[in-house]
Amino acid sequence: MPASPAGTVETRGEPRPSEGQQMTAETTGQPVLRPHAEDAFAEELSALAAADDRPRPARWNLSPWAVATYLLGGTLPDGTVITPKYVGPRRIVEVAVTTLATDRALLLLGVPGTAKTWVSEHLAAAVSGDSTLIVQGTAGTSEEAIRYGWNYAQLLAKGPSREAMVAGPVMRAMNDGMIARVEELTRIPADVQDTLITILSEKTLPIPELNDEVQAVRGFNLIATANNRDKGVNELSSALRRRFNTVVLPLPASPDAEVEIVSRRVDQLGRSLQLPAAPDAIDEIRRVVTVFRELRDGVTTDGRTKVKSPSGTLSTAEAISVVTNGLALAAHFGDGVLRPADVAAGIQGAVVRDPAADSLVWQEYLETVVRERDGWSDFYRAARDAASGRPYGAAA
Ligand SMILES: Nc1ncnc2c1ncn2[C@@H]1O[C@H](COP(=O)(O)OP(=O)(O)OP(=O)(O)O)[C@@H](O)[C@H]1O
Ligand SMILES: [Mg+2]
Repeated sequence: MPASPAGTVETRGEPRPSEGQQMTAETTGQPVLRPHAEDAFAEELSALAAADDRPRPARWNLSPWAVATYLLGGTLPDGTVITPKYVGPRRIVEVAVTTLATDRALLLLGVPGTAKTWVSEHLAAAVSGDSTLIVQGTAGTSEEAIRYGWNYAQLLAKGPSREAMVAGPVMRAMNDGMIARVEELTRIPADVQDTLITILSEKTLPIPELNDEVQAVRGFNLIATANNRDKGVNELSSALRRRFNTVVLPLPASPDAEVEIVSRRVDQLGRSLQLPAAPDAIDEIRRVVTVFRELRDGVTTDGRTKVKSPSGTLSTAEAISVVTNGLALAAHFGDGVLRPADVAAGIQGAVVRDPAADSLVWQEYLETVVRERDGWSDFYRAARDAASGRPYGAAA
């Protein structure tokens, strides 16, 4: 493949949307692996800002309407195409965006892989132009991570003072009137979570050491994400829950919607990984989505056969990674066409999380559903070979 002047390998003929733009690291000048949403979609965001004549809440880069358009996609009067980031009910996005313009914070809830983190990043990018003010919630997240810490050299030299303080992401967002993000809120220990109560109800962050406080500037708000599956790990206290509007992100409603999400994201990821475009990937994408949905729902698409569900979640996010891996296999070790054998091993890996119980579920599904299905014989053979550890095509 010829290298383009910028030293990048041109892999697709069609014009690239703004996400294909090369982002380079500030320190090394090397292309970054994954640009932030506000950088990857900078062109779309500035086109939206230029076309947007609706009122904007204080310190918002765009009006709520333009933020929703950025997430859901659309065409601007000047013909600029805004690619959809989130595929799902419009109302969900409208409620989420509107919440950010009120005095309540936004909690995105849902099963794994329903785009909670993805939506949170894009909302922050569209509203504040910065999606990086983020606290990653873990069992070890401390109060300092949410509030502020100290630069000990400065603290020793000058004593407790504003200069010796190291503001955390939430504090910076309050200072600048921006959107802060808290990922996996329910993994944070309950007493640390409660730090957020004052911030969200009083819109202020006390600094007892200095007998001072930081008051949130207009425009400040917070988006938290939490996983249904983690429920019970650290439940949200009801005091904290009342400070949030909860928006539940659903699993894709129909197979077609899920196929659309997977194709879109696989195409974008393929571009950033510089994989060659796979012309007829849609059949395999449909197959992966069908398998995942049937195992998730416990029944085949035609409603005739009950199947057992495996222990793991077979999310859309997982389908995306199975197909992306398959494309990489096809590109590097095949003829570039995505074939059943390229996805079979990946599907099995996603389904069989618990080697004992899930293997049986998978075997049973292969024998009772896949084996009988028209046009699925190649996939059946590849999956059976992957399951038995035999190389594809080897005699039984
Ligand atoms: N409805 C959807 N629209 C667009 N993309 C989607 C949708 N559902 C899933 N995805 C894609 O799935 C991938 C994973 O999403 P994300 O990491 O945001 O999930 P999550 O809900 O935060 O999962 P977890 O609970 O594991 O943190 C993203 O690449 C996202 O684009
Ligand atoms: Mg997430």
